[in-house]
Amino acid sequence: MDNRPIGVYDSGFGGLSVWRELYRALPDESLIYLGDGKNCPYGSLPEERIRELAVQSVEELLKHDCKLIVVACNTATAAAINHLRERFAELPIVGLEPAVKPACLKSKRKRVAVVATERSLESEKLRLALERYGEGVEVIKAVGRGFVEAVEADAEQSAETLEKVRAVIEPLLESEVDVIVLGCTHYPFLKRAIRQVVGERDVMIIDSGEAVSKRVESLLEHYGIKAAEENEPRYEFLSFADAEYCERLRRKAFDE
Ligand code: DGL
Repeated sequence: MDNRPIGVYDSGFGGLSVWRELYRALPDESLIYLGDGKNCPYGSLPEERIRELAVQSVEELLKHDCKLIVVACNTATAAAINHLRERFAELPIVGLEPAVKPACLKSKRKRVAVVATERSLESEKLRLALERYGEGVEVIKAVGRGFVEAVEADAEQSAETLEKVRAVIEPLLESEVDVIVLGCTHYPFLKRAIRQVVGERDVMIIDSGEAVSKRVESLLEHYGIKAAEENEPRYEFLSFADAEYCERLRRKAFDE
């Protein structure tokens, strides 16, 4: 048994979509969320800069005695996970990857879209996943332009955001994809707008949140570091931005 917290890290608000899954699935676990906020968005930063920020963030979470880290950011995972695992060799670290495997398996038309940041779409990780699972499947990649900014501004419901979502999603629908993979942890916050654009069409929208929480659960088991059932979990929200940003993180985490 180990009542130390799990650390969850993202460039900003996006990782809260993963945080919510962990909160639901692992009710005994304390969670410390670090949303950088100061350097967000990461999507078009050079890889080396993202690596530096990821190291800084994990170090910050370790000051809070975290027993396991979830890099709840596809972009930071693509740029930095190998580096983090080398540098913090003793620490269990879980990364985020686009749900390419289930998408390719579930697509009846064998046409799948992956929507993510520029950095993630260019990544070696995605290339390998597509090579492994994408045989016989046409995969269309699209950058969710303006999506991260909309979520950071709490503007998920605005008419302007809906237009941004439409501009990205409509061409994918015209290409007749039947599965859309959300390959950035900010994007699940835009699911409602995406569904609105999809309308009645038979299109599945999938993200990696649940798979990640299952992976965390199995690692806690594997290392024997689950929290005790009588543990009273605590939830903290940290950021490299200001106190108001931390407060907004907390609000968004518990917002329904
Ligand atoms: N939430 C992030 C991701 O999953 C990063 C988005 C960004 O900062 O550009 O890719």
